[in-house]
Amino acid sequence: MRTYLVTGGAGFIGSNYIHYMFRKYGDDIRIINVDALTYAGNLENLTQVQDRPNYTFVKADICDKETITRIFAENEIDRVVHFAAESHVDRSIRTPEVFVHTNVLGTAVMLNCAKAAWELTDGTFREGKKFLHVSTDEVYGSLPDDENAFFYETSPYAPHSPYSASKAGADMLVKAYMDTYHFPANITNCSNNYGPYQFPEKLIPLIINNALQGRKLPVYGDGRNVRDWLYVEDHAKAIDMVQEQGRLFETYNIGGHNEKRNIEIVNIIIETLREMLPDEDPRKAHVTTDLITYVEDRKGHDRRYAIAPDKIKAEIGWYPETMFKEGIRKTIEWYFAHEEWMKNVTSGDYQKYYTEMYEK
Ligand code: NAD
Ligand code: TYD
Repeated sequence: MRTYLVTGGAGFIGSNYIHYMFRKYGDDIRIINVDALTYAGNLENLTQVQDRPNYTFVKADICDKETITRIFAENEIDRVVHFAAESHVDRSIRTPEVFVHTNVLGTAVMLNCAKAAWELTDGTFREGKKFLHVSTDEVYGSLPDDENAFFYETSPYAPHSPYSASKAGADMLVKAYMDTYHFPANITNCSNNYGPYQFPEKLIPLIINNALQGRKLPVYGDGRNVRDWLYVEDHAKAIDMVQEQGRLFETYNIGGHNEKRNIEIVNIIIETLREMLPDEDPRKAHVTTDLITYVEDRKGHDRRYAIAPDKIKAEIGWYPETMFKEGIRKTIEWYFAHEEWMKNVTSGDYQKYYTEMYEK
């Protein structure tokens, strides 16, 4: 039985990945989820799997070398899938240091502990061991407003925000381990994800949540920045396919080929909410474009991200399966069915962050 060490599995993509993996492999795999449970980590995302005998949760910081070493010593880890990170650009602009700490130092600790556990005396690695580092397309910087421009695996790194700079630093460390030690790893650089369990500081869940509550829908700058949106389950599938079918030491870009301007996203959400809410639901009256409010632009706001997923499609056969129209309906349905989840995550710390960010 293969054992996975998943970091950051209580976050948005990590929890979707864990659900995907148990749906796919059932009792044939074991997952150990290591998560520090920061404001973004939520064990409610994992209630469906928490009682499985082949699932273990360990509350730990990836920077805590002793604990990570112990987890490797006590378990025969075959795969590491490394999601744990500080992930929100706006927060990184306010508090960059924590991003460097978790994203760079934390990745160094994960690499070093995996290397120590997997390395043989002759400097080669035990058969079949693999480390996958989950990264972002934001490391490539910003594309011009030209629909023919795309990021490729060969695009130079040019991060602009403290978030993307820290992820670029982490990617470089993984590359250094592969080049220096021939450490068995892959890097995936993915575009913007959306779907169930996404914390409502990110554009899509923030707009859904605000619209339902009749709150303003904050659109940064001119609203014409472009992001390439991918349904999170397609990302989870891509990670598994890269780890099992990809060539070791390679980077694979993962993208939705689904570029949309932010204002288009906001309008689609309003339209879809209006289609889905029954006429008698009192919220329907206030879900209108009148809520759209243009606010001050993000500092250093990247204009456009877009991935051409040619390599992963050609080598592995992965492609985005969920069309945006379908994905956004599934996402909204999920938020309708999980009002309690939203209430819980928006109480406390998030409320404080929201006030500082949008209501000062
Ligand atoms: P998230 O913020 O929802 O979750 C991050 C998780 O990591 C949380 O559960 C948090 O508790 C945990 N964590 C944070 N610091 C930790 C630490 N020091 N030790 C242990 N656990 C810690 O993030 P996400 O959106 O799920 O992103 C997951 C990964 O995917 C990140 O590496 C991110 O850079 C990458 N990524 C995200 C997107 C996206 O659109 N969200 C796109 C591409 C890549
Ligand atoms: P976000 O979800 O934070 O992801 P990222 O910055 O990693 O791409 O933001 C997506 C886009 O939406 C980005 O261009 C910033 C913009 N945005 C808004 O216009 N208003 C908001 O309230 C937020 C959170 C984001």
